[in-house]
Amino acid sequence: MCGIVGIVGHQPVSERLVDALKRLEYRGYDSAGVATIDGGALHRRRCEGKLVNLEAKLKEQPLAGTIGIAHTRWATHGAPTERNAHPHFTDGIAVVHNGIIENFAELKDELTAAGAEFQTDTDTEVIAHLVARFRRGGMGRREAVHAMLKRVRGAYALALLFEDDPSTIMTARNGPPLAIGHGVDEMFLGSDAIALAPFTNEITYLIDGDWAVIGKTAVHIFDIDGKSVTRPRQVSMAAAHPIDKGNYRHFMEKEIYDQPEAISDTLSHYINFLDNRVVEVSGDIAFANVQSLAISACGTAYLAGLIGKYWFERYARLPVEIDVASEFRYREIPLSPQAAALFISQSGETADTLACLRYCKEHGLKTGAVVNTRESTIARESDAVFPIFAGPEIGVASTKAFTCQLAVLAALAVAAGRARGAVTEKEEQILVERLAEMPRVMAQVLDSIQPKIERLSRELAKCRAVLYLGRGTSFPLAMEGALKLKETSYIHAQGYAAGELKHGPIALVDENMPVIVIAPHDRFFDKTVSNMQEVAARGGRIILITDEKGAAALKLDTMHTIVLPNVHEIIAPMIFSLPVQLLAYHTAVFVGTDVDQPRNLAKSVTVE
Ligand code: F6R
Repeated sequence: MCGIVGIVGHQPVSERLVDALKRLEYRGYDSAGVATIDGGALHRRRCEGKLVNLEAKLKEQPLAGTIGIAHTRWATHGAPTERNAHPHFTDGIAVVHNGIIENFAELKDELTAAGAEFQTDTDTEVIAHLVARFRRGGMGRREAVHAMLKRVRGAYALALLFEDDPSTIMTARNGPPLAIGHGVDEMFLGSDAIALAPFTNEITYLIDGDWAVIGKTAVHIFDIDGKSVTRPRQVSMAAAHPIDKGNYRHFMEKEIYDQPEAISDTLSHYINFLDNRVVEVSGDIAFANVQSLAISACGTAYLAGLIGKYWFERYARLPVEIDVASEFRYREIPLSPQAAALFISQSGETADTLACLRYCKEHGLKTGAVVNTRESTIARESDAVFPIFAGPEIGVASTKAFTCQLAVLAALAVAAGRARGAVTEKEEQILVERLAEMPRVMAQVLDSIQPKIERLSRELAKCRAVLYLGRGTSFPLAMEGALKLKETSYIHAQGYAAGELKHGPIALVDENMPVIVIAPHDRFFDKTVSNMQEVAARGGRIILITDEKGAAALKLDTMHTIVLPNVHEIIAPMIFSLPVQLLAYHTAVFVGTDVDQPRNLAKSVTVE
């Protein structure tokens, strides 16, 4: 989703602004722009497409100035053209915006009737026109920005420059995050601390309703009523993580191979390896007493939650209500305060998930956040935080965050089982021993399966549609496989519970349709094999992902079988994720898509 950066400095800013934007590229975008003030006037360069285009333009037409704002745009209102790219200029005011101004149409009508001439199709432009109108009415800069904030409705992170004030950036937040960076005689603004990591690790996060005036040496923050407020200054960990691809072609590939180490980091926070017990981490959530668990999340994080549901129900005998966040928040679910709620989000900023968290809090539920970013809004607003320790995930398609979310959910399910007396100490130790094996098994699998996956992916890249099937925890994993394939290679794919095959999707099966079946040799194996027979009988091309026991037990010819080591069912979803992710990755490479930033996708979805 859109990225914002700003610098109030004493050295030229345009190059540094673009460098900071590069650190936000992972969020996904389709145009970009930068504006500075120089010689008492606003100047800007904007481009369609990637930042290389903006860099090329800046090389031909450099921008001077020691104050500036910049933006990567993920189009919501208006096509991703140069004309619609931010910053927007109106009457000496420049604005960049992340979010959606929901009442923009009504404001646009009002402003147009009053003589404003709009140059773009965006919702954002109303912000600049509103501020300009208030200023023409005699208000000062701060007053005008405050008045504008009282008129706009919706989600926004904003940065504004005023031609007649080359020493401050004004900013405001309601929804998408904003971090203010404190430098030496320089101040910075960014959509996250990662963007600012080369400049500073001293960060102040704005909270919803805040707006601020950033000067070279100080920031003044106000709440929506205009009252001066202070927000804590903290040291961000973002700089601790280098963001480069190493020897890998893409971040997605690197992040797939990062998983043994990432999972090991995750587990070391949730498991005591000395006595093979789960560490007591539940904090404010008393699993022993809660009557049910409500889980909401989006996309891949939701699919992690679906797998978690199987674990909480099986190991903790805890009923789980789960839904995608965009539905959960509007379903009017009768929630009991005896329930607890979990929110899973890599970014910790996803708008729908955040709205569910607030909804559950209003209903008196204790809340827990399974997040990768401890400084995120979802983490800050939850009663308990369960970090996943995956490190920055830059590829838009989630890989290591997914398996680290699963590792945390598995540990929490075992902890809940212990608290509720549903698992004995002995059972807990066995489960923990198996969890502890995960990094080693992952490394072994990653070392061995690549050549086969590459051969298969070459074939998959020629297909128009792919079906994924699984039972038990392999069902959500089938959906995750389909999601990963479609988002990275743009090939239509769908994941189904294998038992649902006969209820519709079997109509699609023919000799052109690859059917990827995820089937560890677990208690569902024989039933899944029956479903494969049904596919085989119709000439379907089966790619089976199973383990050694499954391969030995199978009496059916499949087109291809990917064989993994035998593992305990509690780690099977993470181990089986590896071939699923690699198939999507290599297929996308063969198709030739922009693997790390697939079209139309954003990493941090801060609008509904
Ligand atoms: C898919 C993917 C998305 C995210 C979803 C939620 O690969 O990454 O489906 O899982 O947008 O994002 P977070 O986890 O940041 O809330």
